[in-house]
Amino acid sequence: MSLNLLVVGNGGREHALVWKLAQSPSVEHIYVAPGNGGTDSLPNVTNVAIGSSAADFEKLAAFAQEKKIDLVVPGPEQPLVDGISTVFKKIGIPVFGPSAKAAMMEGSKALSKDFMAKHNIPTAAFKNFTDFEAAKAYVQSVSHNVVIKASGIAAGKGVLIPTTKEEAIDALKQVMIVKEFGSAGDEVVVEEFLEGDEISILTLSDGYSYYNLPAAQDHKRIGNGDTGLNTGGMGTYAPAPVATPSLLQQIDDSIIKPSIDGMRRDGFPFVGVLFTGIIITATGPKVLEYNVRFGDPETQSVLPLLTDDTDLAQVFLAAAEGRLDSVEIKTKPNTFATTVVIAAGGYPEEYKKGDEITIDSDIQALVFHAGTKKENGVVYTNGGRVIAATATAGSLEDAVKKAYEGVEKIHFNNKYNRTDIAHRAFRDAAKTEGLTYATAGVSVDNGNLLVENIKAMVKSTKRPGADSDIGGFGGIFDLSAAGYKTDETLLVAATDGVGTKLRIAQILNIHDTVGIDLVAMNVNDLVVQGAEPLLFVDYFAIGKLDINIAANFVKGVADGCKLAGCALVGGETSEMPGMYEPGHYDTNGTAVGAVNRNKVLPLVDQMAVGDVLLGLKSDGVHSNGFSLVRKIIETYGFSYTDVAPWKPESTIGKELLVPTRIYVKQLLRPIQKDLILGLAHITGGGLLENIPRALPKNLSAKVDLKSFEVPEIFKWFGETANVPVHDMLKTFNLGIGMVVILKKENVAEVTKLLEEAGETVYEIGELVARGDDIGTIIENSESLYAN
Ligand code: AMP
Ligand code: GLY
Repeated sequence: MSLNLLVVGNGGREHALVWKLAQSPSVEHIYVAPGNGGTDSLPNVTNVAIGSSAADFEKLAAFAQEKKIDLVVPGPEQPLVDGISTVFKKIGIPVFGPSAKAAMMEGSKALSKDFMAKHNIPTAAFKNFTDFEAAKAYVQSVSHNVVIKASGIAAGKGVLIPTTKEEAIDALKQVMIVKEFGSAGDEVVVEEFLEGDEISILTLSDGYSYYNLPAAQDHKRIGNGDTGLNTGGMGTYAPAPVATPSLLQQIDDSIIKPSIDGMRRDGFPFVGVLFTGIIITATGPKVLEYNVRFGDPETQSVLPLLTDDTDLAQVFLAAAEGRLDSVEIKTKPNTFATTVVIAAGGYPEEYKKGDEITIDSDIQALVFHAGTKKENGVVYTNGGRVIAATATAGSLEDAVKKAYEGVEKIHFNNKYNRTDIAHRAFRDAAKTEGLTYATAGVSVDNGNLLVENIKAMVKSTKRPGADSDIGGFGGIFDLSAAGYKTDETLLVAATDGVGTKLRIAQILNIHDTVGIDLVAMNVNDLVVQGAEPLLFVDYFAIGKLDINIAANFVKGVADGCKLAGCALVGGETSEMPGMYEPGHYDTNGTAVGAVNRNKVLPLVDQMAVGDVLLGLKSDGVHSNGFSLVRKIIETYGFSYTDVAPWKPESTIGKELLVPTRIYVKQLLRPIQKDLILGLAHITGGGLLENIPRALPKNLSAKVDLKSFEVPEIFKWFGETANVPVHDMLKTFNLGIGMVVILKKENVAEVTKLLEEAGETVYEIGELVARGDDIGTIIENSESLYAN
């Protein structure tokens, strides 16, 4: 017999299905609609550019007739809920998948809950509600913790797990009144919170007979130790040792058999694969949910456990034809499988697509593509969960080890994977061996290695007064060695961070420039007080310590310190699993400087009407306004890797990451010559709010927006999102990073000194008597946008 198959879907699950089906001696050809960058790598498999939504059903049917398809295997739930089975049944092509009615077991949580109650299938205590007040009263009346679920399909996001009654009522409001999940929240299920290990049972069924595949355990959270946001699944292993033979028997008797029988008796026999999510509670196994399709990535772990002579195409066809008991299904004895999903850094939040993927040719593990696409033979990332490595072995330990060896051989920019897949299976062993700091997610060894890596960089910032050796408990600075008379000297301290510009660095995997921003934000604040920055310390906190990222970050800090002439005398790197998502980090820095007590700026008493304002050109957005920038990128569907519309030879992300300009050494000369009255560092608050910080109450700055060139980057962001001019003025530097206030007679000399030091200087305005303005008057502000 030679079968032509049509597999519908494009995930890792579908790749695994195709991989196993393609081994079947009875399969002639497999078409995958639409497939991904890996599904068509086998000789008898072809991708077909047809989608899987209801709108594509007609095309799929026409294609199936043209290619004389013998069996259709839908992968995801949506086409099943949308009735794909009926479409093919009508034209006489068997489908391994449930009817739309049976698919409602996943499509409606409320319906599946009623079904379980009717058939005495153990599940969490629950009640369905369409009325907010009634739901609220119920939540207040029960003694257990609750989970709130939107009844319709909400792309895996419709589950809220509150920890207090107040949070629970808030969650109800979000789902039922605010409609966070849209119409999926018209009806909600308020469910008892179940505690225990979660396992997935995949059951092949023809509606009468059925076969349970080995129990798998998924890892839904993004972070090690099951922390962070929920994902589609970051890795699986099977068979899960918690599912002992006696527990499996109990699950079959109390859950699987009544489910398969109940659906048939209720008039919707289940054909296909029923995925039952089960929590093993102290009072026995209870159903969390049904899915009406294979799990992803459960499938990638479970199918490699089938024996080589199990003909999956024949099994699916038999189930579709109501004769599952006519075929043999066997699993490999004493074999374990582990799948590790590799995601794009940033997933499940924002992440990048389009990075090239390479795989070493000596890879031993099975590779299942998910979010990938192939163009001219090159494979690129094309989704959040990108690809997975699966290995089988005689012990779970070995399977895990081999899967991770596979992960090491798959490369793309900013890849991310959990490093603890199957940790729950090893938990009991860990308990007897004792927990270590490393098991808890903090590596002291890594920390020490980092210190070794950055020592030389830090050392390169040494200057008179500080030798910049790290590893001690604190950094010492000798003021007199730096030429300061201690009785005349004041110390000035400033502390600041970089803000959400860091997210862009993380998304683009460029970490060696934000350290410059960190230094700049601090030392520019010192110089406006007339002070020379002398020393710097930084703090770097990261969810999972990656030495490369941390060392690159410190390199930026060292570069910034050299630009500013201050010594990096210490810092702190903090690994904080559970506090920050893996791949996320935050930073803060502190600069200390010195100034002669007679030379502190600003000299407000000497300022007068007619004094001049010079503007020093900025290098770009610097470190302010990034929450607005990110919102614009997100709202208007841009990506940081897109070509920068205002600078086609660069990308949006690279232009945004240009580091904040450091103005220190350039300004110290005119400051020391007493040529400057005051300075304003243009940070958060923009030109509008920063200049008045350096002025006396009776004077205002009058700035002419036409006196300097507003760089295109600002105009593009402003015009793209229709940002009002006033908001632009108080959010961005608009091309001026530092403002100098000085007497008219000193303008020529100061301009010359600054230009010699490499600055671009504009005369942007003057001081005027303050009226009822806020201290800044912007002229020609309408000139910001052309129209
Ligand atoms: P679901 O979308 O139903 O798969 O739920 C997402 C995740 O929320 C599950 O993997 C569970 O970890 C958790 N969850 C859902 N319902 C419950 C419940 N009743 N008790 C405990 N955890 C739950
Ligand atoms: N891995 C969980 C799912 O497929 O729903």
